[in-house]
Amino acid sequence: MKQDGNTQGAVAPRDGFSSRFGVFAATLGSAVGLGNLWKVPYMTGANGGAAFLLVYLLATLLIGLPVMMAELSMGRKSRANAITTLQKLSPSQAPWWLVGVLGMLAAFLILAFYSEVAAWIFAYIAKAISGRAISSDPAVTGAELAALIGDPMQSLLWQWLVLGLIGGILMFGVTKGIEAVAKRLMPLLFVLLVVLCAVSLTLDEAGAGLAFLFKPDLSELTTASVLAAMGLAFFKLSVGMGTMMTYGSYFKADQDIPLTAFRVMCADITVSLLAGIAIFPAVFTFGFVPEAGPSLVFITLPAVFSQLPFGQVLMVAFFVLAAVAATGALLSLLEVPIAILHERLHISRPRATLITLGLLALPAAAAALSQNLLSELQVAGMTLFTLFDYLSSNIVLPLGGILIAIFVGWRWGWPAFSDAISNGGELRNLRLARVVFTLLKYLTPILILLVMASGLGVFQSGA
Ligand code: TRP
Repeated sequence: MKQDGNTQGAVAPRDGFSSRFGVFAATLGSAVGLGNLWKVPYMTGANGGAAFLLVYLLATLLIGLPVMMAELSMGRKSRANAITTLQKLSPSQAPWWLVGVLGMLAAFLILAFYSEVAAWIFAYIAKAISGRAISSDPAVTGAELAALIGDPMQSLLWQWLVLGLIGGILMFGVTKGIEAVAKRLMPLLFVLLVVLCAVSLTLDEAGAGLAFLFKPDLSELTTASVLAAMGLAFFKLSVGMGTMMTYGSYFKADQDIPLTAFRVMCADITVSLLAGIAIFPAVFTFGFVPEAGPSLVFITLPAVFSQLPFGQVLMVAFFVLAAVAATGALLSLLEVPIAILHERLHISRPRATLITLGLLALPAAAAALSQNLLSELQVAGMTLFTLFDYLSSNIVLPLGGILIAIFVGWRWGWPAFSDAISNGGELRNLRLARVVFTLLKYLTPILILLVMASGLGVFQSGA
């Protein structure tokens, strides 16, 4: 077996994923998270259904997947954090490392609101245990969520409970522990989702829910919703900010990157579609509205559970598993700044973790309080929570995607890229590598730029 060439200057033997399945589980653990259970359903609902889902799938295939392969191969080649990766691989003096800095900023932006949604998930475990919030009446489930979100103390407490937990895991460096847990619990989440889908499909208005999800009406699309769908593709695959670079740096030298990326994408899409099938039939049956926004799953899923034998037990199980999914994604988000601080400033991982959490305190509190105390504080008509969500997915991640694609296509170049993605010529995948490289060099940056420009209203005259 070949040793990876890039070990010069290494301080200590680097930590890494141990087995092929471990690599797959960890990468999937980053991709699958609240995005599938919360963001895809609420955005699909808010943007008119199937047509939005279709654009999201196209963006995943044409943009998200190539960028994911680019990031993974860059990270594995450099064996370093996001900033150092760009520095090491760039043949010129140009400040490409700034892409890593941008990624670190994106991590904080996403962590701020993501940790708050994770807080709702954890709080819902408690609610499910106490039997509150289970009802098929929109008024009841809606009020239950509003009581949680509207309370500053509760919002902050749950958020810091979550962050403390994740920080603790990272600090003790038991990534292997969480990896092992995720490996066992993820299949359970899958099974539970299938059960929920089966129940949902028996509801009276299941047909309407499925039609909403799968019968595209292209007139529902706007330039803004196309941008949102592309942003969602970045967010879902955890690309555009160096997460996959960082994880790629832990990959084994003989891991098949294109195959791993493809499998992660397929599994990720499957989980999202299952979540949609579990939710939308209930939306139409019980008189919820698909446009409810971020609160959608928290008010509709309890209605599905209320129709089930042992609904309360299953609801507890569901939110526990959702918490596990959120944990894997949160770990990968935090890993970006932690790896940067740890490797570049030569500080220990526990310290790097504490500093990262300290830096996160302000933006995270801002996101939590923007739903109550700070709800008047709006930028461009958005609360801070919505603003962080919007900015990260619609601007920062696509921008990172453009820069990564340009870097690979025009700086890193074909010989280095093909060498990295074929494991030094061991995999006979040059044709596939060609396609991915061509996409990255020409189509990906232009497509992202066009979607961003139109979504942000650049082509509209006037305002
Ligand atoms: N993909 C995760 C989800 O869907 C969220 C996530 C984890 C993420 N790491 C990321 C999003 C990096 C963007 C960038 O829940």
